[in-house]
Amino acid sequence: MRLENEVFVVTGAQGGMGKETVKRFLEEGAIVVAVDLNVDGVEESDQLLPIAADLTKEEEVTNVFSTAVANFNRIDGLVNLAGIAQPATPIEEVSLADWEKIIRVNATAPFLTCRAAVPYMKKNRGGVIVNIASISMVRPRPGLNAYIASKGALVSFTQALAIELAEYGIRVNVVNPGPADTDMLGGFTAKEQDFEIIKESVFKKSVPMGRLIEPIDIANSLVYLCSKEASIVTGAVLNVDGGRGI
Ligand SMILES: NC(=O)c1ccc[n+]([C@@H]2O[C@H](COP(=O)([O-])OP(=O)(O)OC[C@H]3O[C@@H](n4cnc5c(N)ncnc54)[C@H](O)[C@@H]3O)[C@@H](O)[C@H]2O)c1
Repeated sequence: MRLENEVFVVTGAQGGMGKETVKRFLEEGAIVVAVDLNVDGVEESDQLLPIAADLTKEEEVTNVFSTAVANFNRIDGLVNLAGIAQPATPIEEVSLADWEKIIRVNATAPFLTCRAAVPYMKKNRGGVIVNIASISMVRPRPGLNAYIASKGALVSFTQALAIELAEYGIRVNVVNPGPADTDMLGGFTAKEQDFEIIKESVFKKSVPMGRLIEPIDIANSLVYLCSKEASIVTGAVLNVDGGRGI
């Protein structure tokens, strides 16, 4: 067991990658606080505490962490998977409201969760955070302007925290997934496009290794980065993308 008895907050826990990550972390012996907008149907156990929260709201984020600590006494790790897509849109058609929403969910919410987690980690003299960005911030696609900017901000923020928190034994890393076979992928398709056609002709074709990334690929990379095997790895950006970023 690579995460035995360690307490992790996993956001976006009901998403494609989130569900697989929670499952893998439980298999590795972790205690998981599974956070999403809606956690209906997720069964609570000794090892799993589901919490519904909108992570763009400061007081809901505070509540997630205080509830987690009230139940398990500490926080060892935080995995920020929660995020939203942007349908490919020409820049002149992107509203300020759309821009602000994407930045708020993809960059501001991880700021709020990291800010809430760090005091508990400092108290423990250690911890690990992994933020999930996107390979599109290295190799942009047309029309994903706000999404890519939000993920670029998240990568810079992660590296800023990695240097700031190194002396406290807190590691902070990024995973950049390539196009992954989850519900989100459809969210990147422009209004007039057919998703099933784009999935094969654009997304799958863009991966040199010839297949979409699966949630288990991401979950396995997160187990590694959160485990002691990665105890000297911080500030790293791990592309889990079948070569899309090359
Ligand atoms: N799927 C892809 O192709 C792909 C590629 C690169 C990066 N990513 C990133 O990977 C992460 C996981 O993506 P996924 O494919 O599992 O997506 P998904 O849509 O299946 O899951 C995302 C989850 O985040 C939750 N969420 C959204 N806003 C929230 C909020 N305000 N508060 C709490 N929870 C919220 C959603 O309810 C959802 O369950 C995202 O950050 C995404 O940007 C995905």
